[in-house]
Amino acid sequence: MWTGIPLFPERASTMAGRVDALYLFLIVVAVFFSALIAGLIVYFAIKYRRRAPDSIGTGIHGSMLLEITWSVIPLLITMVIFVWGASVFFAMSRPPDETLNIYVVAKQWMWKFQHLDGQREINELHVPIGRPVKMIMTSEDVIHDFFVPAFRVKADVLPGRYTSVWFQPTKPGRYHLFCAEYCGTRHSGMVGQVVVMDPSEYQTWLSGGAPEGSLASAGAKLFADLACNTCHRPDAQGRGPVLEGLFGKTVTLQNGEMLVVDEAYVRESILMPSAKIASGFQPIMPTFQGLVTEEQLLELIEYVKSLQALPQVQTR
Ligand code: CUA
Repeated sequence: MWTGIPLFPERASTMAGRVDALYLFLIVVAVFFSALIAGLIVYFAIKYRRRAPDSIGTGIHGSMLLEITWSVIPLLITMVIFVWGASVFFAMSRPPDETLNIYVVAKQWMWKFQHLDGQREINELHVPIGRPVKMIMTSEDVIHDFFVPAFRVKADVLPGRYTSVWFQPTKPGRYHLFCAEYCGTRHSGMVGQVVVMDPSEYQTWLSGGAPEGSLASAGAKLFADLACNTCHRPDAQGRGPVLEGLFGKTVTLQNGEMLVVDEAYVRESILMPSAKIASGFQPIMPTFQGLVTEEQLLELIEYVKSLQALPQVQTR
């Protein structure tokens, strides 16, 4: 826009234009009123200056018209900002239904990315253009914050929880990734690059290397290694709930509460199995706290998710 003076970072996502338009509006409103008030101060100071050493000002006793005007106009302007801001906020906080999901594990002081196909990256993230991408994020230690200015996304990354942000890149290129929450000595070095590629290039990149197979298949192996499959059996004969088709469903807990099976619930059920027991089951599952890493938790979650795609093709 203004060459030479970058008012905004590069716009490289579908949301960037909307965020900037709102921001520009706020700047225009602020500049207009600052100039108006400063101008009036100077104007009135000159116009109503004391002209004779013994002159006395005239008393003014209110003006209803003035009171109403300077109440209603700011109210209208702030309501515009409120409605506009809320609509941008909702668009940013609700990802589209079909997203490309990528897991993020932050730790002092690096960003670890896991693609569903099995690729792992550190401080570099490859994404395709033109598809909504959802980052599902957690931290191994303290609070970090995922910030990509060019996409206008920023969200805290918390230990023990999953948070997410989504964006749809619109422009190929390399963009800065920052940690935007002070997280210790080398916080300022916790930076990376987001590489936005054309879909075909991205496919080539994806097929370039996934020696360990998909995240879900790594999860399947871990599921067997940890002997989860002795209790969670597809034939409903095990001592634990059937996991096939479970993800995304609503389950009833022992205390009658209902909840939707999401990443956070699967995670909690692995680390603190007795916290929320599904109705009809006993609290007999041992905890896996300390036995599985954040990355392995993601593999198990992805495996549980994958079980809904092919419900019960197992033998009976
Ligand atoms: Cu991580 Cu600052």
